[in-house]
Amino acid sequence: MTASRVEQPADLDAVRASYDRVADNYVEMNLGDIRTHPWLQAAMDGFAASVRGLGPVLDVGCGPGTVTAYLSQRGLDVSGVDLSPRMIEHAQRLHPEQQFAVASATGLDLEPSALGGILGWWSLFNLPRRVVPSVLESFAQALVPGGHLIIATHMGDGDIERTEAYGGVAVSWTTHLWQPEQFSALLISAGLALVAEVRLPESGAGVPALVLVARRPD
Ligand SMILES: C[S@@+](CC[C@H](N)C(=O)[O-])C[C@H]1O[C@@H](n2cnc3c(N)ncnc32)[C@H](O)[C@@H]1O
Repeated sequence: MTASRVEQPADLDAVRASYDRVADNYVEMNLGDIRTHPWLQAAMDGFAASVRGLGPVLDVGCGPGTVTAYLSQRGLDVSGVDLSPRMIEHAQRLHPEQQFAVASATGLDLEPSALGGILGWWSLFNLPRRVVPSVLESFAQALVPGGHLIIATHMGDGDIERTEAYGGVAVSWTTHLWQPEQFSALLISAGLALVAEVRLPESGAGVPALVLVARRPD
């Protein structure tokens, strides 16, 4: 194990409690099912094809494990972690054949060069901007050479303070919007090479979406 050098966000407890509160609705509303969104599914299928055979895959911020299970069904050795214990309860109930654990992206002690793939799939946009570079560096170091990281996040400028989400549930979190060039620069600074970029101006989520895939060079 390597010691984590990632700063812990001051609002981590509030974000965890918020996702615990919305977790039941998130499952009830069947959110996160990429099979209903062909462009997101295409990006995920490209990721799956790129990391197959490279080693275990970790879904960071897996929520109720919908995408984790999707990748498992495509033959990947994939497990999930999430900040929210309630999300992980759902993941374990819905996908008992998969491994899930409660953990923050900022608190993972990842083995160096051990993972074929990592997902930050709609799960890094709550991280304070200054924390993101060290999280991406920790991901880059955990990938095997040739391993891939896939990110989905909200695209734009500035931050959105959310006080309710997923059916009017009270939450307290900040959604940090990213321009593709900003986030790509962080991936490159972390030592990764850009592989793919998908911009979705009409994401269906009210805010444009961005998918980025990056690879640890051989
Ligand atoms: C919009 S949901 C996406 C869940 C899942 N990736 C999906 O696509 O269905 C955001 C998830 O990120 C998790 N999350 C937020 N901050 C996190 C952090 N610092 N570490 C790990 N997970 C986090 C939340 O608990 C929540 O389950």
